[in-house]
Amino acid sequence: MPWDDATGLEKTIIDVGAERVAAFFCEPVIGAGGVLPPPEGYIQAAAEVCRRHGVLFVADAVICGFGRLGDWFGVERFGVRPDMAVFAKGVASGYQPLGGVVASGKVAAPFWDEPGRVFRHGQTYAGHPAACAAGSATIALLERDGLLARADELETALLDRLRGLADHPLVEHARGGVGVLGALGLDPQRLAEYPDLPARVFRATRERGALIRPMGTALGFSPPLTSTDEHLDTLVEATRAGLDQAAADL
Ligand SMILES: Cc1ncc(COP(=O)(O)O)c(C=O)c1O
Repeated sequence: MPWDDATGLEKTIIDVGAERVAAFFCEPVIGAGGVLPPPEGYIQAAAEVCRRHGVLFVADAVICGFGRLGDWFGVERFGVRPDMAVFAKGVASGYQPLGGVVASGKVAAPFWDEPGRVFRHGQTYAGHPAACAAGSATIALLERDGLLARADELETALLDRLRGLADHPLVEHARGGVGVLGALGLDPQRLAEYPDLPARVFRATRERGALIRPMGTALGFSPPLTSTDEHLDTLVEATRAGLDQAAADL
C-alpha cells in the first residue's frame, strides 16, 4: 500500500472487494521503514476509509507506542480509535522481551462473550511473569517521571537539532517532528556513488559515542525518552563529527 495515500487505500479495498479485506495495519509513523511521518490528515482519512468499508484498523504501536509519539499507543495523537493495537519494544524498554495485542470489545466479543467458550490460543511464554514485571515497571516509570509529556518537548528539540545538521554536504534533508524520532536523508548523488554511506556515517558516529541507525538512504534517530537536552546536543555533535569523518574518507 502507498504509505501516505488514503484515496489509494480506498481504491485498493474496492478493487480487492471489501468483504475480502480483514484488516488494515497502520504504523502511524513508519519507523524502521525509513522514519516517515504521515502527511497531515492521512491517518484520520485512512481510519475513516476502513470504517466506511468495515475493515478493521489495526495500529502498529511496536515503535510508536509507550511514549515515542507522546502517548500510549501512538495513534491517539491523531484522534483515531483503532480496532486493535499491537505493541512491543517500548512497553518493557527492551529489558525483557514483551509484546502484546489489545483488541476492542467488538473484536473480542466472538471469542469471549459466549458463556463457557474458551479462546484456544496459547504461546509457551505468553504472560511470562518476568517480562510482564518489566512491562509494569516501565509503565510505572513512564508515569512517575512524566515521560509522555517529556516526549512532546523532545519531539521539537530533536527536530530542531536535526535541522541544524541539514546544511552538511552529505545531508539532503532532515525529517521528523511527529514523536521522538527523526532522520537525516543523505545526499542522493553521494549515495549513488557510495551506497554504504549510511553505514559509514553510523560507524564514524559510533566511534564518537553515539548510536544512530543506518537505513537505506538515511540515518535514523530515536533517543531515549529520558534524554536531557545535553544528551541531544551530544548526539548531534557526534553525528556532525561522524558525517565530517565519513566525508573525509570518501
Ligand atoms: C513497527 C514494527 N512492527 C512490528 C515489528 C515486529 O515486532 P515483533 O518482533 O515484536 O513481532 C517491528 C520490529 O522491529 C516493528 O518495528
